Amino acid sequence: MTQNIKEMQQQIDLLGLTLRPHTKAHKIPALAQMQIDAGAVGICTSKLGEAEVMAKGGIHDVLITTPIAGAVKYHRLIALCKEHPKTVIRQVIDHPEHVKAIARLATETGIEVGLLVEVESGQMRCGVMPDESLVELIELINRTEGVRYDGIQAYSGHLQLVKGYQVRQQTAFDAVRDVFAFIDTTLAPRDLKPGIVSGGGTGTFAAYPGLGYTEIQSGSYIFMDATYAAIGDELCDVTNRQFSPALKVLTTVISHPAANRAVVDAGMKSLSIDLGMPKVTTYPEVTYQCGGDEHGILHLPEGHRQLKVGEVLTMLPSHCDTTLHNFDVLYGVRDGMVVEQWAIEGRGRSD
Ligand SMILES: Cc1ncc(COP(=O)(O)O)c(C=O)c1O
Repeated sequence: MTQNIKEMQQQIDLLGLTLRPHTKAHKIPALAQMQIDAGAVGICTSKLGEAEVMAKGGIHDVLITTPIAGAVKYHRLIALCKEHPKTVIRQVIDHPEHVKAIARLATETGIEVGLLVEVESGQMRCGVMPDESLVELIELINRTEGVRYDGIQAYSGHLQLVKGYQVRQQTAFDAVRDVFAFIDTTLAPRDLKPGIVSGGGTGTFAAYPGLGYTEIQSGSYIFMDATYAAIGDELCDVTNRQFSPALKVLTTVISHPAANRAVVDAGMKSLSIDLGMPKVTTYPEVTYQCGGDEHGILHLPEGHRQLKVGEVLTMLPSHCDTTLHNFDVLYGVRDGMVVEQWAIEGRGRSD
């Protein structure tokens, strides 16, 4: 994990960009601080609840990358900014309603909130189109007291796991080409050029040479997972060796009902399966099948040696974010010894 942190920082430094790691993968202020100590400018969180955890944990610069809505959330955002006046807290928005609601409360409280406008970047999720609606939203921010136009977010989440390095880089570049053309042809001449352009992930951090991103939001690189390990890198189209799989889950064999079938105590409440099945690191030839909330069924090839009931196996999750979210504590292991442990403070803070 520590090597992954160093490696990504070095890669981003070489690209002449800044790194703002997404902490939705780990949700632990102490790990966020390690990323900042390695050179990151600040961090991202997906949710307001995670941002509250990070600010309380002493992180000085937080970008909330998902728009919020509803009176309760707006009040919490303002309260967070007020409680941490020395912390830079920015919110991503994509609608005039966000601007007005945040501005009204900020003005009443006597503070100013920095906003990044999310721009549609191929995923058709949140984000305004790079057209006159973007201009109108920026101009609304600029003429509204209580909010500040700090830049844009252009993140193509759907392209992070595209297999094959070259095709992923090209697809990611093409997905945001229009956004940057619009900045040059329309925003810049009107003095609306974004100060910050934030985006990119573990799969695409190097995909945008010359385009104008200022900071990269990669997150999963800190742990990697079986899905990320199979997207390919510059040297190999089917394996990614830029970063090492660092997140493992231990599970215990609880039953061995047949010669070719054993059962472990990790089901989908431990190992998420939204991106496919985890890998059995201890026995790569054995395959895992989800057996429900608390069971995992292992299929042993013909003639495989029988496992011991009580034997502890190591699993490589298929998706680090959704797996980590199932646990309270992360253990730091070096040379087979537990050397650290961290409470996963942002766990459950998707509020
Ligand atoms: C807005 C945003 N930025 C960055 C990331 C980090 O991407 P990755 O974990 O693929 O590095 C995510 C992940 O979902 C995200 O939602």
